[in-house]
Amino acid sequence: MQILVHAHSGLRWLVLISILYAIINAAGKTKGTVPFTEKDKKAALFALIFTHIQLIVGIILYFISPKVIFSGSSMGEPALRFFLVEHSLMMLIAIALITIGYSKAKRLTDDGKKFKTILTFYAIGLLIMLISIPWPFRNLGGSWF
Ligand code: HEM
Repeated sequence: MQILVHAHSGLRWLVLISILYAIINAAGKTKGTVPFTEKDKKAALFALIFTHIQLIVGIILYFISPKVIFSGSSMGEPALRFFLVEHSLMMLIAIALITIGYSKAKRLTDDGKKFKTILTFYAIGLLIMLISIPWPFRNLGGSWF
């Protein structure tokens, strides 16, 4: 159990950094003047893979963590509501956006549009993740690593 929490906590950085890298890599290339290469595809793919590993660990934690209590009374307790509903639901939305962005970009033929799709979906996904992480300063029992 504790090893999964540590994995989930540490993996956050790989997820955030790889998404940020894919965003920075796509920025400024949306006009279509720069070709979409294998390297660009890999940047988007690595972010997708780390995100999906995080999803699997998160789903397992959801069913074994003592911080997730399936009871109506959890809704009245901010820390319990956060893990039962807010964190998991927002992260599912963020992960869905990144998955949709990746597969949409894959199907497009215009290189500028590929970069633009990745940039848009990954940026919104990253934003949702950043506001849904139990950062230590939010007093929800989360740590930095
Ligand atoms: C990319 C998406 C995600 C990120 C970046 C993320 C990040 C985190 C972080 C930083 C923590 C705090 C760990 C600590 O104690 O230091 C955490 C806890 C937790 N996350 Fe996620 N998470 C993600 C997705 C999910 C999903 C999709 C679920 C469930 C469906 C989930 C379920 C949980 C649970 C249950 C905990 C509490 C674990 C415990 O301390 O017992 N997470 N998450």
